[in-house]
Amino acid sequence: MKKAIVVFASGTGSNFKNIVEKIKIHNLDAEVVLLVSNNSNCNAVTFAKKNNIKTFIYNSKKYPNDFNQDILLKKIKQYEIDLIILAGYMKKISKNLIKNYKNKILNIHPSLLPKYGGKGFYGMKVHEAVYANKDKKTGATVHFVDEDYDTGPILIQKEINLKLDEKPSKISDKVLELEHEIYFKSVRLFCEDKILWKNNKPLIKE
Ligand code: GRF
Repeated sequence: MKKAIVVFASGTGSNFKNIVEKIKIHNLDAEVVLLVSNNSNCNAVTFAKKNNIKTFIYNSKKYPNDFNQDILLKKIKQYEIDLIILAGYMKKISKNLIKNYKNKILNIHPSLLPKYGGKGFYGMKVHEAVYANKDKKTGATVHFVDEDYDTGPILIQKEINLKLDEKPSKISDKVLELEHEIYFKSVRLFCEDKILWKNNKPLIKE
């Protein structure tokens, strides 16, 4: 059965674009049915519109009293969805939403979690810390979302070696390439029902 996906993105949306494009290339039986964004002017929204993907702009300016994200949940429930993908989404997902989509929300983080995870570690901040600490390797992590920042069960993590004195912008480019690879791989595993849960840990069926 075709899997219906909702993507949440706030910015450039390169992970979002990559997933939409690879779904087509690989003929995956899945479709992004909705893009949720807090930012109506971001590239992710522009891309969605160009590709006839429905968009829903959701932020506290538009919905100042929706503390539990009930309106957002109601919107998502209009679609019978299988998976939510956070792709550079800068807002916290409510407990309400997480409860409703347990083990069905994925996030990508540009580090080898648990290193450089948690509040305050996002985007270039992560790569700057890797650089400042002279780390010899870094990477990206796809994990399921739980109620805290960047702590949910890890599905795929991949590392890369860094050369001496590689600058944060270069680190970011390399990690983003890795993100595109492992995020699509994760979506594919999910859509092909190749993830099984054991003791609250996701395992990959060969
Ligand atoms: C990525 O580095 C991702 O790991 C992080 O936000 C960034 C989003 O990039 N969560 P993009 O918008 O997908 O290009």
